[in-house]
Amino acid sequence: MKFICLTLLFVSGTTDSRSEQYKVVGPADPVFAVASEDVILPCSVKPNISVFRSDLYEDHEDRNTIQIQSYRGRTKLIHQELQRGNASLKLSSVQVSDEGRYKCFIQSKSWYDDTTVNVRVEAVGRPPVITVDGFDHSGGLHLQCESEGWYPEPDLQWLDSEGISLSSETTEKHRNTDRFSVKHTITVYERDSKIHCRVKLRHHMLETLINTSNRMKQGEAESRRSKTRQLNERDTRLESSGAFIMPQSTASAPSGRAYVGKNHG
Ligand SMILES: *[C@@H]1O[C@H](CO)[C@@H](O)[C@H](O)[C@H]1NC(C)=O
Ligand SMILES: *[C@@H]1O[C@H](CO)[C@@H](O)[C@H](O)[C@H]1NC(C)=O
Ligand SMILES: *[C@@H]1O[C@H](CO)[C@@H](O)[C@H](O)[C@H]1NC(C)=O
Repeated sequence: MKFICLTLLFVSGTTDSRSEQYKVVGPADPVFAVASEDVILPCSVKPNISVFRSDLYEDHEDRNTIQIQSYRGRTKLIHQELQRGNASLKLSSVQVSDEGRYKCFIQSKSWYDDTTVNVRVEAVGRPPVITVDGFDHSGGLHLQCESEGWYPEPDLQWLDSEGISLSSETTEKHRNTDRFSVKHTITVYERDSKIHCRVKLRHHMLETLINTSNRMKQGEAESRRSKTRQLNERDTRLESSGAFIMPQSTASAPSGRAYVGKNHG
């Protein structure tokens, strides 16, 4: 786990002699950040006192090492906030690789204290895509749902029109660099008109639905035809990318901003 050090200095002066009463305070829970958005890493001195000067450094013995390349231009402290003892760091354009533990270290000539901020990153992937994979002789409709670009691994769920969860037949996940993709299959027999594929990651959810009643009719026709002709799966796939597959609204956390998480380990 990476440690990054945020070094600040008290404004020197009369307050320094009472410095032992000060404490550096951070969030008790992990801070959740959304990839490509900004996040605030909370850190402050209590009771409030002006602090100045800081940056994000690698946690080496030598605290004057230059700022880590990958963070350059992405960190910001608010001057007015520092004057109120608020040393919270704003990190822009969050990347999955930013996940980790950050140390906020505040010192004066005669005192220092620190706190650790645990940052967790989430990346919302692309809307799930439902593909009709064919029909079987008993009238079952083979569906496949796939979604990519998530971090960490999301949950994929099939739901019927009543919102009842259906168990997947096969499940697959892949990790490409720092993103996950998931693929589940299911066979539906009932004439349920709507089957949803929902991909969820904490407060982020993407859903796609397919109207299977049309498919079933085609399926029956296909089955009849397949008595004389082997079902060509590729034809079915092409035909299925049509109008009945529609991504649903993207329900996610309010405005999707980063926030300090509660009750999550
Ligand atoms: C500290 O907080 C108190 C009460 O909120 C405020 O009156 C005071 O101005 C603050 N001090 C600094 C240095 O910001
Ligand atoms: C501390 O400063 C950050 C911005 O850097 C701000 O978002 C946050 O609300 C401030 N915290 C307090 C307690 O004022
Ligand atoms: C599904 O398609 C059938 C046949 O076209 C239609 O009657 C029904 O209203 C559709 N259901 C939904 C949920 O769109």
